[in-house]
Amino acid sequence: MKKRIFSGMQPTNNLHLGNYLGALRNWVDLQQDDYECIFCVVDLHAITVPQESERLAQATREIAAAYIAAGVDPEKAIIFPQSAVPAHSQLMWMLATMTQMGKLERMTQFKDKAGKNTERVGLGLFAYPVLMAADILAYKATHVPVGEDQKQHLELAREIASTFNTRYKTDFFPQPEPQILGAATRVMSLKDGTKKMSKSDESDNSRINLTDDAEKIAAKIKKAQTDAEPLPHDVAGLKERAGADNLVTIYAALSRRGKADVLKEFGGQQWSAFKPALAELAVKELSPITERMSDLLAHPEKIDKILRDGAERADTLARPILRDAMDIMGFWK
Ligand code: TYM
Repeated sequence: MKKRIFSGMQPTNNLHLGNYLGALRNWVDLQQDDYECIFCVVDLHAITVPQESERLAQATREIAAAYIAAGVDPEKAIIFPQSAVPAHSQLMWMLATMTQMGKLERMTQFKDKAGKNTERVGLGLFAYPVLMAADILAYKATHVPVGEDQKQHLELAREIASTFNTRYKTDFFPQPEPQILGAATRVMSLKDGTKKMSKSDESDNSRINLTDDAEKIAAKIKKAQTDAEPLPHDVAGLKERAGADNLVTIYAALSRRGKADVLKEFGGQQWSAFKPALAELAVKELSPITERMSDLLAHPEKIDKILRDGAERADTLARPILRDAMDIMGFWK
């Protein structure tokens, strides 16, 4: 059987370097003939925190444009908005009935987002990983390329698939494999190397957005956290130096080299020499994507067509799988 990839990103704010290196670039690399690729814009996940209704559709187009600009080929891969395929929500409900609350309570992303406010957060935020499991299982996807921060959610998706299979004495759902690939599976904030680079960080200087121009990228890297020591000569020398490690990791990932190799070149040099080299590399890698994105966004009707076609193809795949799952559960038909 052809391997089937499913992954997605939320249409909230701009995509950043973490989304690109941790996920999007790997999607493009994986887009080969022996994989069938399904890339979703997960708008139903986005509304687990309040979104402006005037912005949601445009944000969805922007994420689709970023996928395509980065190299996802809409002729080969399916690109579509999650909300356009009802099977996601329907399967989510069915899977929710076999997911233990205790497991959802242990999700670190939920704990981070809910903070101390667990009484007041919405059910959607709590149930978020069940929807994610439904996204994947609605296509019987076998491989899921994501950044490190989604690992726990994927483990839960695997457990939910097993629970279904055990309860109904079947091997209906496959166990989706996480694909956490490349040198930068967890890109950290430019301002604090112990925190993940995130769309929701208040400080824009903490991240490099795919829409940042060359000047902005250089300015952000110049201000990025490092320390007083020069770059070390080997990877062991990055220990306990989170800011330094992050910049070297980003350089390694962008240049598709190992960290050891990067340090062979830059070991012993000052940050004032490394940072401009990193900025130049980041601009070289990202600016073609930024340009293609704005070209694409100048023709929203073309993006809408890709999304509509994608939704139709996705629906055709998901609908019979949902029906089979309903049959296994014994629903009327
Ligand atoms: P989201 O929108 O937060 O992030 C999209 C992808 O980017 C990765 N990522 C990072 N990788 C490295 N370093 C970082 N700092 C960084 N920040 C984000 C994420 O790991 C992710 O791969 N729940 C998911 C979306 C989703 C999904 C799915 C993914 C919904 N259903 C089914 C796979 C399969 C999310 O919120 O990603």
